[in-house]
Amino acid sequence: MTAGRELQHIPVMREAVLAGLALRANGRYLDGTFGRGGHARAILECLGGDGRLLLMDRDPAAIGHARREFGDDPRVAIRHANFSELGEWEAARAGLDGVLLDLGVSSPQLDDAARGFSFQSDAPLDMRMDPTTGESAADFLARADEREIADVLFHYGEERMSRRIARAVVARRRESPITTTRELAELVERTLGRRERNKHPATRTFQALRLKVNDELGSLERALPAATAALNPGGRLVVISFHSLEDRIVKQFIRGPQAAPARRGLPAPPVAMAPLQAVGRAQMPDAAEIARNPRARSAVLRIAEKISSGGGA
Ligand SMILES: C[S@@+](CC[C@H](N)C(=O)[O-])C[C@H]1O[C@@H](n2cnc3c(N)ncnc32)[C@H](O)[C@@H]1O
Repeated sequence: MTAGRELQHIPVMREAVLAGLALRANGRYLDGTFGRGGHARAILECLGGDGRLLLMDRDPAAIGHARREFGDDPRVAIRHANFSELGEWEAARAGLDGVLLDLGVSSPQLDDAARGFSFQSDAPLDMRMDPTTGESAADFLARADEREIADVLFHYGEERMSRRIARAVVARRRESPITTTRELAELVERTLGRRERNKHPATRTFQALRLKVNDELGSLERALPAATAALNPGGRLVVISFHSLEDRIVKQFIRGPQAAPARRGLPAPPVAMAPLQAVGRAQMPDAAEIARNPRARSAVLRIAEKISSGGGA
């Protein structure tokens, strides 16, 4: 943690999130991405004494904040876990009226140099949201073969020079391991040999490694059916994505199974009924919010309502 300064996170699209959850004073809600509690605080302000708010985060620092701030509130339950495991929490299985997932990393995670998410400062190359488990970015770059590194950079970072960077990583680690954010940022910059306007050349590499190390897309793919299964009929799913790969997963999940094209002369194959119905279109922050909070600029908010008690995907 940066010494002497409490790192803050500004909640994104706060009013749209509250409206999307269609909060009832005595409802049961789950915020799977507590962060620094901006949304959770706003939800609690709308709940009465019989309301419940379940809080999750995979980052122990976020959970520490949740316990300090809400640990004494009898309406609140707190769990340190990946939100993909929400179905294993008995409190969540009791039925929910709304689930919020505000994806990605929080400002405190980005701004605390020691977490290794940012190429703006020099720190151990970690990038895990939960540093108590799994493989750091440095460990991944030390272990993976050239092909796997290139695939991660290409698929998660949409990095067109993925092969060239992977080759440079493997050549470099024969000399000495890549252990810091600066070493990686400089390696990518040297390999690409160019500066980009408004963007460090290592931006896509860092994003790809973050998504990989935290299995962010896999967590989301597992969480969406689990959240849907936990929702009561009429309950709301509210998801904020910051990346087109995430938003595509959310959009397709809400849309549900699509009919395969009918073969000529045969009846159309049956399609399982989607358990969710989209509520309105995707929403983005307005210009005033982006001016106040530039980190909101790529946010996409989607809302869906559970239409049957049938459960997950
Ligand atoms: C964008 S921040 C949420 C900010 C929060 N809504 C607020 O207002 O302060 C995302 C948070 O979700 C957590 N997170 C991301 N993926 C997660 C996952 N799969 N399971 C649990 N927590 C996750 C991160 O650790 C981070 O604290």
